[in-house]
Amino acid sequence: MGFKTLKDFDLTGQVVLMRADLNVPRMDGKVTDTTRIDRLKPSIDYLTQHGAKVLILSHFGRPEGGQHDPQMSLAFLVPVLQERWGTNVSFAADCIGEAPLSLAQNLKNGEVGLLENVRFYKEEKKNDPDFAEKLAAPGDLYVNDAFSVSHRAHASTEGITKYLPSAAGLLMEAELTALDQALGNPEKPVMAITGGSKISTKLSVLHNLVEKVDYLVLGGGMANTFLHAQGANIGSSLCEEEMADEARQIMDKANVQNCKIILPADCVCVSDIKPHADHDIINPHNIPEGKRAIDVGPKSIDLIKSAMDECKTIVWNGPMGVFEIPPFDKGTNALAQYVAEKTAQGALTSIAGGGDTVAALENAKSKSHFSYVSTAGGAFLEWLEGKELPGVQALLK
Ligand code: 3PG
Repeated sequence: MGFKTLKDFDLTGQVVLMRADLNVPRMDGKVTDTTRIDRLKPSIDYLTQHGAKVLILSHFGRPEGGQHDPQMSLAFLVPVLQERWGTNVSFAADCIGEAPLSLAQNLKNGEVGLLENVRFYKEEKKNDPDFAEKLAAPGDLYVNDAFSVSHRAHASTEGITKYLPSAAGLLMEAELTALDQALGNPEKPVMAITGGSKISTKLSVLHNLVEKVDYLVLGGGMANTFLHAQGANIGSSLCEEEMADEARQIMDKANVQNCKIILPADCVCVSDIKPHADHDIINPHNIPEGKRAIDVGPKSIDLIKSAMDECKTIVWNGPMGVFEIPPFDKGTNALAQYVAEKTAQGALTSIAGGGDTVAALENAKSKSHFSYVSTAGGAFLEWLEGKELPGVQALLK
C-alpha cells in the first residue's frame, strides 16, 4: 500500500521504537477494556520472534501543560501488558535521554520495554524536531502501530519518521486494509450507517460520505435535524434547528451524487428518557409536543434491512438510538445483528469504528462478527471525513 512493513526489515538485534496507542480506558486504577492492548499482540509477537529489542512509545490521557503527572504514568500498565502479551516488559521512567538509552542497551533480543508517557513533554504535541530526534535516539527502526492516534501530527507519530527508517506495524496494516475495503476501494453497493446525537460534529463526515456511498442511513438524534429540515413535526425530539440549512445542503448533494439517504420511517417515542419508559411507535413527521424520538421503529428496521440486502459493503459509525438505556437499544441491536448475520454468510463486508460505535456493537453482541472493528475513535472519524492522516502520510514518504 505504499509503505514499508515489518517484513521489509531484518529485525535481529535491532532496537525497534514502536508507537502504540495505550490510551486505554481506566477506572479505579484498572483497565476496563484491553482491546487496544490485545490488538498490538501480533506486532509484539512478530518483533520478538524475529529477535528485535522492542521499545514501546505511547501517550496516555492529556496531561495538563505537557508536564509529568504521576496520575498519567504508563507504569501501571506493565503488569497488564505482561499478562496480555505473555512476555516480560521492563519500564523506563522517561521517554527521552538516559533512561530509554540504557534500557535499549540492557534489552536482549526478543525483549520488550515500555517508555514513559510521551505527552509528559509539551514538545510532543508541538511536533518539535529536537524532541523527535531525542525520541528516535535509542532506535534503529521506527514502527507505527497506532492508527488510532495517527490523526495527530505529533513528534512520536510524524516527526520521528524523519530520523529513522519507518514501517507500519501489523495493526496499522490491518486498519488501513480494512478502511480501504470500506471506502477506498469497496465492493459496491456501499451503505454507510451514521448515528449519534448531533450533525454539527459530523458535518464533514456526512459531506464526504454522500460522495462515496450508495446508501446513507441516518439514525440517532442527527436524523431528527434532517426530518425537521424536511418540515417534519418532530415534537420535543433532540434537534439542531440552526443546522437545518446544512442538512438540506447535504440532502441536495446526495441527490446529485445518486446517494440515497434513508431517514427513519417510524420512531420509538417517550415522554421521559429512563429505562423501560412507556413508549409509542410514531410517524416521525407527526410527533406530538412533549414526546421525543429515541430509537428507530420496526418499519425503519425493515426498510434499512432491505436496503442492506442490496449492499456488499457496510461502514458503521454511531448508534441508531439511546442504546445505553434499554429497551431503546432495540433498533441498533436489530440492525447490528443483521449485519453480523450477513457478514457471517459472506454476503457483506462490514467495517465499524469511532467512539460509541464499539460499545453499541458490544451491547448488541455483534462486535466479533463484523469483518473489522477499528480501534480508533477520532482517527476513524477524520478518515470518514476523507482527511489525510499525518501519521499515515509520514509512512508513505
Ligand atoms: C484516542 O483515544 O482516540 C487516541 O488515543 C487519541 O487520543 P487524543 O484524542 O487525546 O489525541
